[in-house]
Amino acid sequence: MKGYLSHAAQAAPFSGRKQSLIEDARRGRSSGGGGSAGSPGPSRFGDSFVFEEKDGRVTLNLLFSLSNEKNSGFFKTGKIFETFEAKLLHIESRPGRKSKNGASDLEFFMKCEVHSSDLDVFINALKRVADDVRSIPEEKVAWFPRQMKDLDRCNMLITKFDPNMDQDHPGYSDPDYRKRRAAIAELAFRYKQGDPLPIVEYTAEEVSTWREVYQKLRSIYPSLACKQFMDSLQQLEKECGYGEDRIPQLRDVSVFLKERTGFQLRPVAGLLSARDFLASLAFRVFQCTQYIRHSSSPMHSPEPDCCHELLGHVPMLADKEFAQFSQEIGLASLGVSDEDIEKLSTLYWFTVEFGLCKQNGAVKAYGAGLLSSYGELIYALSNKPEYKPFNPEETAVQPYQDQTYQPVYFVSESFEEAKIKLRRYSETIKRPLAVRYDPFTCSVEVLDQPSKIQNALSQIREELKTLHSALESLSSC
Ligand SMILES: [Fe+2]
Repeated sequence: MKGYLSHAAQAAPFSGRKQSLIEDARRGRSSGGGGSAGSPGPSRFGDSFVFEEKDGRVTLNLLFSLSNEKNSGFFKTGKIFETFEAKLLHIESRPGRKSKNGASDLEFFMKCEVHSSDLDVFINALKRVADDVRSIPEEKVAWFPRQMKDLDRCNMLITKFDPNMDQDHPGYSDPDYRKRRAAIAELAFRYKQGDPLPIVEYTAEEVSTWREVYQKLRSIYPSLACKQFMDSLQQLEKECGYGEDRIPQLRDVSVFLKERTGFQLRPVAGLLSARDFLASLAFRVFQCTQYIRHSSSPMHSPEPDCCHELLGHVPMLADKEFAQFSQEIGLASLGVSDEDIEKLSTLYWFTVEFGLCKQNGAVKAYGAGLLSSYGELIYALSNKPEYKPFNPEETAVQPYQDQTYQPVYFVSESFEEAKIKLRRYSETIKRPLAVRYDPFTCSVEVLDQPSKIQNALSQIREELKTLHSALESLSSC
């Protein structure tokens, strides 16, 4: 089983984001080329950060404040701009942080262009009329969804392994298969967050493919799959129509998952970019293909299909610990650089897709790429491959293989251990903002104001009180 999360073409073109004083400045995704990945970063120019130097002029971001006594400073600032022929590109203002009792101190943010040779003198002149004058580096944060409905924009597909483009795809030379796959993919293209999940009436041939996959994998699960997977699969068989005679509908499976771990499914038309796929996990939303692999190759699909999603991923997403683990990878991905997305998607690859864990002294599979691939599941748990202990720093840069079996598998002591290690690793990822998932509004909150952090702390305090009184009740029994 191969290539379920692309590592090669993962970065959508994102527009850069300026360092803004306006806290909720919304930004859209650029539709064209360019973007943060290709933009030059700031460089030191004397004591200042500048972003572009061209034809003897530099662009820089300035922050300064004007105290109550220096209101006239704003006009003097303008005069300095005029004197130095500084070109104002952007200006914002807000009440100053040091303002007290409604005093009218203001902080200003300006992006401007000035002659390179005048830069130091220009800044020194500003310092004479304003307070706290400084130039700041420009932060560039990749766009990410804040609300569930934003997931409608997380739909960048990767054409790698597409049967219309990939000559090695078993369906490449079968126009009827490609037509059917396109019709099912169209359901996903039309889907909007909140719509009922589309129902697919599978053909007898498709059910037959499913049956073959189900029978073969089901026969080896008891000895090779981890306990959490087996427990969930048995529940799915009992309560959600899992079995060899019908392909479960995403709508039913999503209801099942929501009741157990809060995860929901969302239809997707094919292989998604890593950034969009991981961002969905932050909301406990799993993007799921609905078409099935070609009937000529029931034991192999180069791209994700419903066998991979329903058999590989869904049972694990029904486990609370694993669901938490998956969401944490998603949250860690929001707003980070393309380089960190690459590392996180590699971590995802060697855990959620190809992870192994120890249970009762034996190594078992929990990765969906393994649990939906008869050949690789047997290979991974034979004495042939190399095993390494799961260590995020090492795993994140391990070369992966999406054309054949993995060269190495990472073994966790437990999900709990993997979660703790992943959390520690996430803390080392550099990003200019902290985020938190709000389960009441199903939204991602950027913790960029003291009041937001205080609200979050109050919620945690209330929960701790509830847990404390529950413990006291138990101990008094
Ligand atoms: Fe997958």
